[in-house]
Amino acid sequence: MQAKFNTFHTIMGKKGYGKSSLCDILLILNNRPALILDTTNGFPPLGKNRLFFDDMEELNLYLQLHYKEFISKKQQLILQTRDPEQFEELCITAYKCSKISLFIDEVDFYCGASLSKKSAFYDIIHTGRHQEIDLYTASRRPANISRDLTSQTDIFYLTMTTENRDFDYIKQAFGEDVSDKIKTIKPFHFLVIDKTKTNADGSNPINLLITKKEQLESIYRLNLKKESKND
Ligand SMILES: Nc1ncnc2c1ncn2[C@@H]1O[C@H](COP(=O)(O)OP(=O)(O)OP(=O)(O)O)[C@@H](O)[C@H]1O
Ligand SMILES: [Mg+2]
Repeated sequence: MQAKFNTFHTIMGKKGYGKSSLCDILLILNNRPALILDTTNGFPPLGKNRLFFDDMEELNLYLQLHYKEFISKKQQLILQTRDPEQFEELCITAYKCSKISLFIDEVDFYCGASLSKKSAFYDIIHTGRHQEIDLYTASRRPANISRDLTSQTDIFYLTMTTENRDFDYIKQAFGEDVSDKIKTIKPFHFLVIDKTKTNADGSNPINLLITKKEQLESIYRLNLKKESKND
């Protein structure tokens, strides 16, 4: 079966529960060039094809000179900032690329529940399919995430939530069964709700995903092996 590109993955839950690490795994498995906005320094160094940038000027210059390499070597370009203007610029750049993954960490920090129709992130959400962009986002506060984003999300990954407002949102969006499970879920455990699939009763499948430190390490090792083979 051909993989569907332009899939939206939304990760939600409390700090320290493994959201960035889960996304790191998902991005490596997706095996596409990636632009990453890493707000919390959650991405460790990893070989030659993971490159770090402090601002968009630097990142855009790199892409002007090395776009072919970015695509062919499936590089990960990581922007480390908390500046909302840099977020907008990253989205403008991502929209000019095609067949890439884009990850925005702490997405609610950059855009609230209502998203300006003039923003590049709005364009990515609503017309990113033309560029075949796979979008990944993580947030500690589900209630604060743009509804434009949640309405277009294909796969949700939910871990521990404690704030009442977030809780109410999860209950209303996914039902009481899910919100009850979220109350006691352990670190590095995620409920995965796949909106692209439907059960016989019309509900979406819900599965438990547990990430493991060893899994992350073995994926890093595989990635480095692949890199040295391609040299
Ligand atoms: N499956 C795991 N097993 C053991 N440790 C893990 C696992 N996943 C992540 N960690 C470690 O736990 C810590 C928190 O993980 P991570 O940064 O991914 O959480 P987070 O939810 O993104 O947190 P924050 O909201 O602060 O960004 C990190 O030190 C990470 O290396
Ligand atoms: Mg994180």
